[in-house]
Amino acid sequence: MQPRDLSALTPYEAGRGIEEVAREVGIDPDDLVKLSSNENPHGPSPAAVEAMREHADGVHHYPKAAHADLQDALAERWDLAPEQVWLANGGDGALDYLARAMLEPGDEVLVPDPGFAYYAMSVRYHHGRVNTYPLHKDEDFEQRPENVLDGYDGERIVYLISPHSPTGREIDREAILEVADGVDDETVVLVDEAYGAFSEAPSKVDLVRERDDIAVLRTFSKSHGLAGVRLGYLLAPEAWGDAYARINTPFAVNELALRAGLAALEDDEHVEQSVASATWAREFIHDNLAAKTWPSQGNFVLAEVGDAEAVFEAAKERGVIVRDATSFGLPGCIRITCGTKAETTRAVEVLNEVLAMQDPHAATGGAPTGESGGVGVSFGPDADESDDAGAE
Ligand SMILES: Cc1ncc(COP(=O)(O)O)c(C=O)c1O
Repeated sequence: MQPRDLSALTPYEAGRGIEEVAREVGIDPDDLVKLSSNENPHGPSPAAVEAMREHADGVHHYPKAAHADLQDALAERWDLAPEQVWLANGGDGALDYLARAMLEPGDEVLVPDPGFAYYAMSVRYHHGRVNTYPLHKDEDFEQRPENVLDGYDGERIVYLISPHSPTGREIDREAILEVADGVDDETVVLVDEAYGAFSEAPSKVDLVRERDDIAVLRTFSKSHGLAGVRLGYLLAPEAWGDAYARINTPFAVNELALRAGLAALEDDEHVEQSVASATWAREFIHDNLAAKTWPSQGNFVLAEVGDAEAVFEAAKERGVIVRDATSFGLPGCIRITCGTKAETTRAVEVLNEVLAMQDPHAATGGAPTGESGGVGVSFGPDADESDDAGAE
């Protein structure tokens, strides 16, 4: 007796935690700077923590009122009806709900390459097939409508990301409309705004109000610092009616996550601080890292560093964990999450030291890479396997 044929599915491999890496490299966990998962360096919204404490005594009840309350609160915030707010176990859970609601077995979807790994994983779990459209480095990863539509062949869902991870690039309203107008009536365009709070551009949720073929994804993981409670949502067109009620797992979000979400939604100060800090950090990285970087509207920056695996390993040995972007389909690049001022400054210092030891001819741009020929860093095929295959 075996499960169905799962050979086409890929297991999710989360990046290793701070404790584990600290033990491996022999560093005190408090001295490690983890900038690999686009988490909020300022922690969770304090109001959310307090709300979870306050409601911990009541978790023997199924979550009901809080689910409706958060749907209402988000509906009000986005000027939609409560049924249009599909609360889920993280943005990942909302992606699952979208696939569950949309896909018949064998249906195809179109995802960006490079892009967020969980789109394809979720679609395959739901018996769908995955096609890709390219984002080109020499076009600075612009999600050009032509690239999307050239790759389009009647797929049921087209995924756009704004700001895009791992590049930080946005897609503007007109380009989204061009895609939505260029695809069939039965195709939905998903605009993933997981990092939307960090962008200077407004949310594209107005398109959800206006049309029946555009949905928007948001999450509490990043700007609200609630990655650990798993809370995200899809904003779906009104025309989809009670689809969410028909497909959602009973009590889709846990009580403490709902309470945290309700409180975090009111905690503007925490969000503003998080956004201001990320805005500072991405500029700092862009201006000071001795490598080519791309302008980012997210809480992270993509940098071209040559041998990304070696840079990742050498930085890790020095207590700084970044993301080797090879797992996103971008060999030669790393993604650096915006940390606090102290974390970001240290990360840039360490990375510049590491880059200076790399073959200067391998460096690809940006500020001067410093002196070459340092000792103590080994680059090359012997480096350990990276721990960054996760999708976050
Ligand atoms: C582009 C993108 N979309 C969605 C998500 C899902 O986030 P979560 O499941 O933590 O809400 C992530 C997580 O890193 C992401 O990078």
